Amino acid sequence: RQQAPRAGLFNGNGKPGEHYIKPKETLTTASGKPVGDNTNSITAGRRGPLLLAEDFHLYEKNVHFNRERIPPRSVHEKGAGAFGTFTVTKDISKYTKAKLFDRIGKKTEIFARWSVVAGEHGSADSVRDPRGFAVKFYTDEGNWDLVGNNTPIFFIRDPLKFPDLIHSQKRDVRGLRSWTMRWDFWGHSPEATHQVLWLMGDRGLPKSYRHMNGYGSHTFSLVNDNNERVWCKFHMKSEQGNESYTDEEGIALSGENPDLFNEDLFTNIQNGNGPKWKMFIQVMTDKQADEVPYDPFDLTKIWPHKEFPLHEVGELHFDRNPVNYFQDVEQASFAPANVVPGIGYSPDRMLQARLFSYKDAAVYRLGINHEQLPVNKPRCPVFNYHSDGFMQTQNGAGPPYEPNSFGGPAEDARYVDPAVPLQMSGEGKRYNHRADSDDYSQATALWHIMKPDEQERVITGITNTMTKGKGAGCKSDPVPKKIQQLNLYHYYRVDKSLGERLAESLGLDLKETIARAEKDLPKEVP
Ligand code: HEM
Repeated sequence: RQQAPRAGLFNGNGKPGEHYIKPKETLTTASGKPVGDNTNSITAGRRGPLLLAEDFHLYEKNVHFNRERIPPRSVHEKGAGAFGTFTVTKDISKYTKAKLFDRIGKKTEIFARWSVVAGEHGSADSVRDPRGFAVKFYTDEGNWDLVGNNTPIFFIRDPLKFPDLIHSQKRDVRGLRSWTMRWDFWGHSPEATHQVLWLMGDRGLPKSYRHMNGYGSHTFSLVNDNNERVWCKFHMKSEQGNESYTDEEGIALSGENPDLFNEDLFTNIQNGNGPKWKMFIQVMTDKQADEVPYDPFDLTKIWPHKEFPLHEVGELHFDRNPVNYFQDVEQASFAPANVVPGIGYSPDRMLQARLFSYKDAAVYRLGINHEQLPVNKPRCPVFNYHSDGFMQTQNGAGPPYEPNSFGGPAEDARYVDPAVPLQMSGEGKRYNHRADSDDYSQATALWHIMKPDEQERVITGITNTMTKGKGAGCKSDPVPKKIQQLNLYHYYRVDKSLGERLAESLGLDLKETIARAEKDLPKEVP
């Protein structure tokens, strides 16, 4: 099962029950020596102790077994992956010179990993949580990783708060998940209100990975052949439609089949029903970025579709299951820093932090040569002077330094980046990002597009998690009144009637809530 030729052993797209093709081959050790007995260890006499040094096969099996686990991802630990193809359907070359978009009909191999954010391996899929939606495009000019979520926004706008956010969503000192920790962090973070309202709505409990949209979420940049830059957001709309579970369904399904999403994806691909998404972009010019009443680089904000309509780009179709889960899904590594000529970063400070964080995580989890693993390996040639390190397989034959006199790879001025330099000014200091932010009006718009029955589910969902500590994916003690009030205050700021309905449902006095929240929230909160 272990060695390279096993690519033929498992047919990921075979019919159910026919996963394994079983060629008759002789079992071997890792070094290839045929094994004669895989049942009986060597012992000193029939009932005697083991002869461990002599029984190298027994030793090797144990040594390897003890090293099977690697560090898990610190977030998005549980997920599923698939290979597929991206096909360009509309011409966006006036915005970007990225080669993967250079003509209608162009096809690029892709791999995606979808994930639950807070849960660990083995935890349930049908939980209320954002979902990861990371796509690797193996382009002719290197890998482009669009490492997004199923939400267009996020809980925080400053990366200094990311570890705090994640600690509050994972396990407390008892090793238990806790609604108190979640609501406590969200209540102290007014900028989370928009994302939390989204999460408590129907889209916070998608029916499967196939039934949700994907978003690059951040603002990125696109640069065309004339080196003109626009700002851009990426959207991937599910062609299966957006469908959701209710809280009760989510809770029941967690017990019935914790691996629901992974199984759904795998079997649909296996049965020839691989999922599809349409890719769109929103585009904003520098001038528009100066004029909009919100910070277009703030990850807690969307760009309204009315002013910034969606432009179709192409289609993603996933039709190939990984040959082996550990090899392709667990060892997959994505990094927002991986862009290609024609696609660039933006000053979004969350994106900026992610540019360095993922490489570091991959080096810790998989090692310095993780980009040589088959799932991560670019499909275009790679030439550089990185040398050695654990598990090196592609040290070149040439000199390991540059410049050199032997014709090794050299820089090419056509690819200097950033292609369009960012204008920067101001003092380098810690600016209070809450001082002039509007954390409520986009949440108000979201509340108003929810249908009455969804609004009702939001109120019930929030009430259940706060007063009973009960909601899909987490059962805990009720949330203390003080923390309930802190959060109620934000919903009152989103919409007066939402605040009133929620206060009644929670059994809280609104006047007391407002007075207390205004005293307890940090001064800079508007
Ligand atoms: C995974 C950091 C925000 C989407 C990860 C991992 C780290 C991380 C360290 C594990 C990577 C690995 O071990 O391979 C951060 C930091 C953030 C941030 C520091 C903010 C400052 C976000 C946002 C999104 C996102 C805003 C979506 C828009 C993902 C996804 C994965 C992931 C999809 C899983 C990738 C995979 O399937 O391998 N993040 N993250 N993260 N993050 Fe973030």
